[in-house]
Amino acid sequence: MIEIAIDGTSASGKGTLAKKLSQKYAIPHLDTGLMYRKVASEILKNKIDHNNLSELSCQIAKVSSFENLQNEELRTEKIAQMASKIAVYPVLRNILNLKQKEFIVKSNEQFGGCVLDGRDIGTKILANANFKFFIDASIEIRAKRRLLEKNISFLHENDEKCMLQSLIENMVERDNIDRSRADSPMVPAKDAYVIDTTSMNAEKLLSIVTELIEGNLYT
Ligand code: DC
Repeated sequence: MIEIAIDGTSASGKGTLAKKLSQKYAIPHLDTGLMYRKVASEILKNKIDHNNLSELSCQIAKVSSFENLQNEELRTEKIAQMASKIAVYPVLRNILNLKQKEFIVKSNEQFGGCVLDGRDIGTKILANANFKFFIDASIEIRAKRRLLEKNISFLHENDEKCMLQSLIENMVERDNIDRSRADSPMVPAKDAYVIDTTSMNAEKLLSIVTELIEGNLYT
């Protein structure tokens, strides 16, 4: 059985790595960030007041389906900010953790393993994973990658700079919330390989990770 845990900052390359490893080893992949985003997007759709976000997010998580999360609408910055805000609630985390555990049990039984990415996978959800990776990169390069994903063509250079600056601010704020929350903060697991992808593309990252996995698999 092969369980792979991937954590790290947004736009560090962790999601692409998880997808590629899932294909390479034919094991299911769960992007746990999308689960928080799904709850966040339902909250934002609700026109009711957001005073009791903790309770509201739990109610939504209990009745939501987390199938078919690959939806571009969940990728907005607004949803990302709300996802990070609600991810501090331990009761919400417990509900989502149970769903993640169900996915793990099913994947291990049917496919002999799984790969999950998020913020607390190596430290909590797959604490006994065979392989743990923590992926990070400089804030400037991460913001540039996000901007490229958005595929916007700018008329003026200044507009592009403004957008980049606002992305940097959002990402820094979100990293701070994710790193400093009391329950399951974003930190590398003690036994994780920490990889900086600032000057590395997705193929290079995959080849480094594959070498680490296969080196260990066959020793
Ligand atoms: O990976 P992402 O950017 O889609 O995640 C959105 C937010 O969800 C992130 O800022 C924090 C939260 N999250 C979390 O707290 N724990 C996870 N395992 C995954 C995501």
